[in-house]
Amino acid sequence: MNSSDQAWWKSSAVYQIYPRSFCDSNGDGIGDIPGITSKLDHLKTLGVDVVWLSPVYESPNDDNGYDISDYRAIMAEFGSMADFDAMLAGMSERGMVLMMDLVVNHTSDEHAWFRQARSSRDNPYHDYYIWQEPVEGREPTNWESAFSGSAWSLNEATGEYYLHMFSPKQPDLNWENPKVRAEVYDLMHFWFKKGVRGFRMDVINLISKPWRADGSLADAPVVQRGFLQPAFEMVKHGPRFVEFMREMRHEVLDHYNSLTVGESPCATVEEAAEITHPDTGALNMVFQFEHMDLDSQAGKGKWALKALHLPDLKASLSRWQNGLHGRGWNSLYWNNHDQPRIVSRLGDDGHQYRERSAKMLATCLYLMQGTPYVYQGEELGMTNVAWPDITHYQDIETRNMYRVATQEKGQSPDKVLRSIHAKGRDNARTPMQWTAQAHGGFTTGTPWLSVNKNHDHINAEAALAQPDSVFHHYRQLLALRKQWPVLVHGRYTLLLPAHPHVFAYLRSDEQHSVVVQCNFSGQFQRLPLTELPDLRAATPLIGNLPFEEWPMAPDTLAGWEARAYLLPGAALTHND
Ligand code: NOJ
Repeated sequence: MNSSDQAWWKSSAVYQIYPRSFCDSNGDGIGDIPGITSKLDHLKTLGVDVVWLSPVYESPNDDNGYDISDYRAIMAEFGSMADFDAMLAGMSERGMVLMMDLVVNHTSDEHAWFRQARSSRDNPYHDYYIWQEPVEGREPTNWESAFSGSAWSLNEATGEYYLHMFSPKQPDLNWENPKVRAEVYDLMHFWFKKGVRGFRMDVINLISKPWRADGSLADAPVVQRGFLQPAFEMVKHGPRFVEFMREMRHEVLDHYNSLTVGESPCATVEEAAEITHPDTGALNMVFQFEHMDLDSQAGKGKWALKALHLPDLKASLSRWQNGLHGRGWNSLYWNNHDQPRIVSRLGDDGHQYRERSAKMLATCLYLMQGTPYVYQGEELGMTNVAWPDITHYQDIETRNMYRVATQEKGQSPDKVLRSIHAKGRDNARTPMQWTAQAHGGFTTGTPWLSVNKNHDHINAEAALAQPDSVFHHYRQLLALRKQWPVLVHGRYTLLLPAHPHVFAYLRSDEQHSVVVQCNFSGQFQRLPLTELPDLRAATPLIGNLPFEEWPMAPDTLAGWEARAYLLPGAALTHND
């Protein structure tokens, strides 16, 4: 094992908090920092080492904090800097560390830099952002923003367009400008010096734009009807991305023993390997999206629903497992504040199988190689919501898409709502369900977004009290990773690649082998034992049905069942 194998963040478990929806301490219906501090024991019990906090900086909340107007101030709705310090102290008392969200592909249009920048072409801050002249009286390129509409907005004062890959209130920073980069490095030092241990970097692989020699940007390839075209593919991992990140490493990251994870839309294994390589890269790991795109129609965007074909998921995750082994490092996630709830997405969120399928999904993911991420409420098996009309939804992406789809593209509201029920970001953002009481114990006031009505039986209080709950299964999985180094560092080998319903794999190192078998269907599945390692001498490690029942059916898995076995010795061979 070399020193990078021992990096602390490889054997750590990360828990993501979406502060707005976690716990409201003052009854205004919005989660806040004192609320987080009051719930740290919940995280400690789960076995969390690192807390990743979605943005808590000052923001006009066009995109719930991902539009920052002051990187060194706390959003008033969330509390004060003193509250922040108290939260940090609470984490440190419990042996946990904090990872902040670094949103520096763009700022808010209300940030002082942008207010200055847009005022005139010769303002010293003008070059902090990305400007282009109109082309034939319209937007300079056909790029579509991630939140619908053009990625360019006209700035009346200067007669130029500015770029925003997200909402018009999120103008993209110009990373070509060394002053911008110096500002970013400065603010990172500011938070590191306060005691923060790392950063999750928002859409970091979009920071280097594909400039042409003449200072213009090219149109994106035409893949859909109309003028606007998706542009992430051509902006991601741009020409100077790796250079900028190495500079950040040199200027900032090398000074701290930190954890960094770069959110990386459209990233390939090779790109991730380059940026996470311990010697030549800059980040510890990335969030890749390939496995999140497999239940959408290829090339049509996330709202174009498609049933998952399990062998696609197996092939994808396995390619990442093997592709980064010994080179970079994976992050293991099913959920975050942008994704629907995994038990509703790939499991069965009905009464009978919700808990079993939630446990199966966690078992399948967290026994792979990588750093596990748990998103608030995932450890309870929280589910999606399906509200009857768009007025219930708050998310800017969802609302904009609904407007364009129903008003400009003439799609039926019912059809669009079906996509929102399956994929909308508010599925993840309904408040955390702490108790069976009103509003799930999240607030004593009126929550900013409705609490899922199933909080009467899905809540933290009930889950902690029930020994075989989803919560305790998550806790055991995280604990097993601490106990068995093979689960952190061991090699990964996919088994039964073509099986349509069973995801099985092997983890192995010199001392041990672990075999994982997961049934992604509600039906019994027969296992082709000749294609699996011999498990007769194996011991059960973890499962979602009682161990006593396993020997009775070594060649079958019950609906949504998951089993992991431990084999002593380097008993198994695999293809290196
Ligand atoms: C990715 C974040 O996760 C998402 O919530 C946000 O809307 C965009 N980046 C823009 O910052």
